[in-house]
Amino acid sequence: MWRSLRLASTLGLCASVFGQSSTVDSYISTESPIAKAGVLANIGSSGVESSGAYPGVVIASPSTTDPDYLYTWVRDSSLVFKMLIDQYTSGQDTTLRGHINDFIAAEANIQQVANPSGTVSTGGLGEPKFNINETEFTGAWGRPQRDGPALRSTAMITYATWLIANKNETYVTDSLWPIIKLDLDYIMNNWNETTFDLWEEVDSSSFFTSAVQHRALRQGSALATAIGQSSVVSGYNTQANNILCFLQSFWNPSPGFMTANTGGGRSGRDANTVLTSIHVFDVEAGCDSVTFQPCSDVALSNLKVYVDSFREIYDINAGIRADQAVATGRYPEDVYQGGNPWYLASFAVAEQLYDALIVWSNEGLLTVTDVSFPFFQQFDASIKPGTYSSSTPTYSTLTTAIKNFADGFVATAAKYTPSGGGLAEQYTRSDGTPTSAFDLTWSYASALTAFNARAGKTSASWGAAGLPVSPACSTSKASTVPVIFNVNATTVVGQNIYLTGSVGALTDWSTTNAILMSSADYPTWSTAVTLPANTQIQYKYIIVNNGSVTWESDPNNEFTTSMSGITTLNDVWR
Ligand code: NOJ
Ligand code: NOJ
Repeated sequence: MWRSLRLASTLGLCASVFGQSSTVDSYISTESPIAKAGVLANIGSSGVESSGAYPGVVIASPSTTDPDYLYTWVRDSSLVFKMLIDQYTSGQDTTLRGHINDFIAAEANIQQVANPSGTVSTGGLGEPKFNINETEFTGAWGRPQRDGPALRSTAMITYATWLIANKNETYVTDSLWPIIKLDLDYIMNNWNETTFDLWEEVDSSSFFTSAVQHRALRQGSALATAIGQSSVVSGYNTQANNILCFLQSFWNPSPGFMTANTGGGRSGRDANTVLTSIHVFDVEAGCDSVTFQPCSDVALSNLKVYVDSFREIYDINAGIRADQAVATGRYPEDVYQGGNPWYLASFAVAEQLYDALIVWSNEGLLTVTDVSFPFFQQFDASIKPGTYSSSTPTYSTLTTAIKNFADGFVATAAKYTPSGGGLAEQYTRSDGTPTSAFDLTWSYASALTAFNARAGKTSASWGAAGLPVSPACSTSKASTVPVIFNVNATTVVGQNIYLTGSVGALTDWSTTNAILMSSADYPTWSTAVTLPANTQIQYKYIIVNNGSVTWESDPNNEFTTSMSGITTLNDVWR
């Protein structure tokens, strides 16, 4: 009886996986033109929703109340135009040149507008948002936000590099370079100052901001070299090296994730980091962990920790298996406009995984390390660290499962996309109804870049491959080890076994955030946790049933983690 039930559910799973892939195919074919039209509608002055925005000015959304987003943000505009510039320079859409020229002219004006952050030479380039007629916004706001100049220069450098390859170097040197140089000099001189994060809330240092600044300086230095502006090169390279070193310090080894901000007093799990991975993706950089490439062990471990932080908090995620996609938002503690899942967060997770699949396919192999082991274990319970060539069954099993997992995030966005295809900023945590700003330009752009990644399309390389970091900037990756906890425990319906213990990765003896174990091999309950190496650990299993907690009897279980390699603990509930 039990076996046949299990067979039936396995077949059901296969059917739903194939069903999901074609659901995603058909969503993409209807949503792509809607998303593209949605982006163009929000660009002045011709965009049908842009409500008087000047030419090349991108509005965040046409929404004027709750929230009022009829402004232009440097971050949103630059991410949107990076997408459009990639489409133009790759030949995907050859009609966009007029818009790109308008964007450059608009941003060149905006750079010169004195604003509450300063003038062009006294910090004004860090101002996050402007009125849509290119005048300063003077209301109270989280300022400065220092990711803007980085994202803007990266978009323009991408265009400039293409122009040089297409015999238009004079225009680059005479017209584009002076605009780009203002942003790069600003980064070089200010990257080490505090900044509001991309969510405009936390004033500290921020992983996304530092990572996109690093990328911009590297690309800027290469462009400067190409056009003979060699005087800036050593300054840009020196600060790029310093930022790359600083970036390593955001790594939190147990459990393995990048803490989004140095301040803020939150768990640190944040879409900030997944967005970083896709916006620093360089298809020629392999699975480099130093630059946080999408298929790097650190970025995959981070993805799992980020995604898992939303499993228990949104009603719409209830009942979804621990190895399947769920709705995700900015960060679990978010309360803004209800603190809901965001479309661009769902698309970003999918995009990171599609990018990873592209690189594994190019390299003909994938590697499971001690750090990425918990991520891969979701898709193959018996996986061991090692390198798997594309001819092995393990490679096929993993990449097929990861493609399905990625598609699940698109399918989640699809499920909560209304019939007209409009993409708001958020969808509610209670029932998935679109909410907050409607027709968010960034939501549409994030859909389009994820769809392109799924189709195997990549952007131009930016020079991420093989960058050295000094030993003093080590990620301290060696200091964690994976531990598999198995406990044999007989339970009744409604009861679940959780793991809690004495270190952060074991939730510091929390009963409300304790780690839910999998009952796939009932009566053995299992979970894998990345723990600090060579450390004495105490832990207990607990049964939780409708909020009531039953502890194992005393004393605490205790062991010392190894220096390296995987440890499996086989316990019996007591
Ligand atoms: C508006 C910002 O745009 C948003 O990111 C933030 O969450 C809220 N203000 C609350 O600070
Ligand atoms: C709020 C978001 O937190 C921020 O990242 C964005 O720039 C603005 N909304 C405008 O879309």
